[in-house]
Amino acid sequence: MQFEKNILCIGAGYVGGPTMAVIAQKCPQHKVTVVDINPTRIAEWNSPDLPIYEPGLDEIVKETRGKNLFFSADIEGGIKEADIIFVSVNTPTKDYGIGAGKAADLQYWEKTARQILEFSESPKIVVEKSTLPVRTAQAMEKILTSTNNGIRFDVLSNPEFLSEGTAIADLQEPDRVLIGSMETESGLKARDVLVEMYANWVPRERIITTNIWSSELSKLVANAFLAQRVSSINSISALCEKTGADISEVATAVGMDSRIGNKFLNASVGFGGSCFKKDILNLVYLCRSYGLHEVADYWESVIKINQYQQERFVFKMLNAMFNTLSGKKICLFGFAFKANTGDTRESPAIFIAKRLLEENAEVVISDPKALKNARADLKGVNGKISYVEDPYGAACGCHAIAIMTEWDLYQNLDFEKIYRSMAKPCFIFDGRNILDHEKLLKIGFNVFPIGKPAMAHFDLS
Ligand code: NAD
Ligand code: UGA
Repeated sequence: MQFEKNILCIGAGYVGGPTMAVIAQKCPQHKVTVVDINPTRIAEWNSPDLPIYEPGLDEIVKETRGKNLFFSADIEGGIKEADIIFVSVNTPTKDYGIGAGKAADLQYWEKTARQILEFSESPKIVVEKSTLPVRTAQAMEKILTSTNNGIRFDVLSNPEFLSEGTAIADLQEPDRVLIGSMETESGLKARDVLVEMYANWVPRERIITTNIWSSELSKLVANAFLAQRVSSINSISALCEKTGADISEVATAVGMDSRIGNKFLNASVGFGGSCFKKDILNLVYLCRSYGLHEVADYWESVIKINQYQQERFVFKMLNAMFNTLSGKKICLFGFAFKANTGDTRESPAIFIAKRLLEENAEVVISDPKALKNARADLKGVNGKISYVEDPYGAACGCHAIAIMTEWDLYQNLDFEKIYRSMAKPCFIFDGRNILDHEKLLKIGFNVFPIGKPAMAHFDLS
C-alpha cells in the first residue's frame, strides 16, 4: 500500500509505543514505525506480550500492527524513509558530572540527533516528544545543521501530556495538543504539517501552537503544577493529623471552588512516576542556572514535601506498631506508582520497602501488574522480601498491611478473611485513603489513614 507520509518514532517506551499506536489508529493513511536501540523491547512490541501494561493498548496494537504500525530495530532504515521523526527517548535526571541529581541527562536525546543527521538523505520534520529543558530545540538544530549537508531539518516541540494508566484515553481525547515551532516560514510550514496530522482526530480548537520555547517550558510547568497540588494537599494532610480535621473533607471543600478545581487533591503516601520529580529537578536546575534562586527554592519545596510525606508514613508505621518493626511481617498492597500501570519508577513503595527493611521488618509485596518491576527495583537490597500476587496469600501471617497503590481490587477484598489470617494486633496503613476505615475498625484492625484521625483499639496517646 502507498502511504501518504512515513512517520518514525525513535524510542519505544511508555510514550513512544502508545502514542504511535494511537497515531497509527487515527491516521491509517500514514505509515508509522517505532524504533529502539533495545532489540528486546522491539521484540516484545512485536509479540503478543507487550512490554508495558496500559488499558486499551493491546487492542489498538492488534488492530494496527503489520498494517500501518511497525516496530523495528532498524534505526538507520527508519530515519532514511521518514518524513516526520518523533524523538521519544528517555531524558532521566543526570547522575554524573555537573548537574548530577538535578539536570536532565541529554545523552540519549543527543545521540538520536546525531543519528538523524548521519542517516538522513531527505528533508525531515524532527519533533521533540521527550520532555526537555527549555531551549533544547536550539541545540537540536545546531547539531542537525552542523555539517551543512544541504538537507532541510525543521525542529518542532510537541510535548506529551498523557498519564500512565489512562494513556490511550488521554491520547484519543487530549485536553490539548501543544505544538511549538520556530517562527520562520519553514518552521511554520512544518508546524502546519503536524497540526494536519493531529486534526485527523483532535478538534482544531484543542490544537494550540506557540513559539518553541513556550512549548518546551509549558511541559515542565504543567508537571510542576500537578505535582505542586499533590504536595500542597499532602502538606495539609500532616496538619489534619495534628488537628482532627479530615483531609478528604478539606479537599472537597477547597476543590469545590471552581477557581481551584477538585482534581489532583487526593492525599497520598507521595507522588511517584518517572516524570514529576525529574521534571521539577530540571526546572529547578534551569532556574538556578539563570540565577533565579528564589524561584528554584519555591519549586524545590514541592519535592521536599514529597520526601517528607514518605518519611512521615514510615514513621507513623513505626510509631503505631510500638516503636519496633524488627521481625514484623508487613505486606505492601501495591507497588506501582499509581493504579492501572505496572510502572514502578520513583514509586513511593520503593522507598517505603527499603525503609521497612532497614528497620528489620520482613516485607511481602503484592501487586497485580508490577511484581516484575518490583523484583528489579529491590534486587540486591538486604533483608527478607517476598513477592506474592494474591493479596490474601500476601497478607497471611502479616502484622500490618500498607496500601501503596490505589488499585480498585484492594477496595473489594474480604477484609474479615484477611483479618483472620493475620498476626494480632493487626494494623492497616492506608496510604491512599481508599478503604472503608470504619468497617475495618469494626473488623478489628487498627486503622491509620492519611490526613484523618487514626482509629485504634488501644489508647493512641
Ligand atoms: P522509556 O524509558 O519508557 O522509553 C525510552 C526508550 O528510548 C527506551 O526504550 C530506550 O531504549 C529508547 N532509546 C534511548 N536512546 C535511544 C536511541 N539513541 N535510539 C533509539 N532508542 C533509544 O521513557 P518514556 O517513559 O517513554 O519517556 C520518554 C520521554 O517522554 C521522557 O522525556 C519523558 O519525560 C517523557 N514523557 C513521559 C511520560 C510517561 O508517562 N512516561 C509522559 C509524558 C512525557
Ligand atoms: C504525569 C502527568 O499527569 C502527565 O500529564 C504527564 O504527561 C506525565 O506525568 C509525564 O510527563 O510523565 P503520570 O506520572 O503518569 O502523569 O501520573 P499522574 O496521574 O500524574 O500521577 C503522578 C503521581 O501523583 C502518582 O504517584 C499518583 O498516585 C500521584 N497522585 C496523583 C496523588 O498522590 N494524588 C493525586 O491527587 C493525583
